[in-house]
Amino acid sequence: MAEPLSVPNGELRLVDDVEVAFADLVAAELGSAVAEGRATQRAPFRLVLSGGSTAKACYTELATRSGLPWERVECLVGDERCVPPDDPAANQAMIRAALIDRVTPTPAFQPMDCAQPPAAYAEVLVEAGHLDLVHLGLGPDGHTASLFPGSAALEAPPGRLVDRNTDPSGRNPHERLTLTLAGIGLARLVVFTVAGPEKHEALAHALAHHDLPATRVRADRVVWLCDASAALGAGLGRVGA
Ligand code: 6PG
Repeated sequence: MAEPLSVPNGELRLVDDVEVAFADLVAAELGSAVAEGRATQRAPFRLVLSGGSTAKACYTELATRSGLPWERVECLVGDERCVPPDDPAANQAMIRAALIDRVTPTPAFQPMDCAQPPAAYAEVLVEAGHLDLVHLGLGPDGHTASLFPGSAALEAPPGRLVDRNTDPSGRNPHERLTLTLAGIGLARLVVFTVAGPEKHEALAHALAHHDLPATRVRADRVVWLCDASAALGAGLGRVGA
């Protein structure tokens, strides 16, 4: 009997549409936090958002969900490209267009500012104390946030929560600000969303428990939401078998 496939740092869920599964999970986690008194206007639910096309689809779906208590949510970002805020490459521009500017009431939003030292955003995280849900993507090379293979920020010392970084391979442009593994580790829940056949190689490495920036992530709970096109290519046709 073959061992069930797994990722080394959390729970793997094969889903039809990662954006629907993501929106369902955010709604459920937010609902639980409100019900348990862990999300108020004074102490909001801290939702850390990602960049990328998968994230854009997730936020577009999330914005269609009615009745979510956005007044009890503070949105942050896991990484940012050091470009002008309204640049099409800016994660904050995508996040505003796909989510922030489309829900009511408008949630608090703390974008990263590359003109500030990384410690300034680290202060935002320290003031928050914890992060309720950190959303992460998976790059074809196994990167997550702006933690690229072989990059300096991947080896940041434990006390550093946010760092500047670049991709030594040159595949991912722009200088970045990014949460480090320690910053991501403040999360109560990390949710990876992995979709599309172009991710099946990175996912296969994750399933083989290879050392990737994404498989180095540790948090209280880690959930990988993977769609069939990413999973089948990675040999996950047997999942749940
Ligand atoms: C970024 C993202 C990055 C992204 C992955 C997946 O700023 O580029 O934070 O980590 O999530 O590269 O991106 P896609 O969903 O576009 O493949």
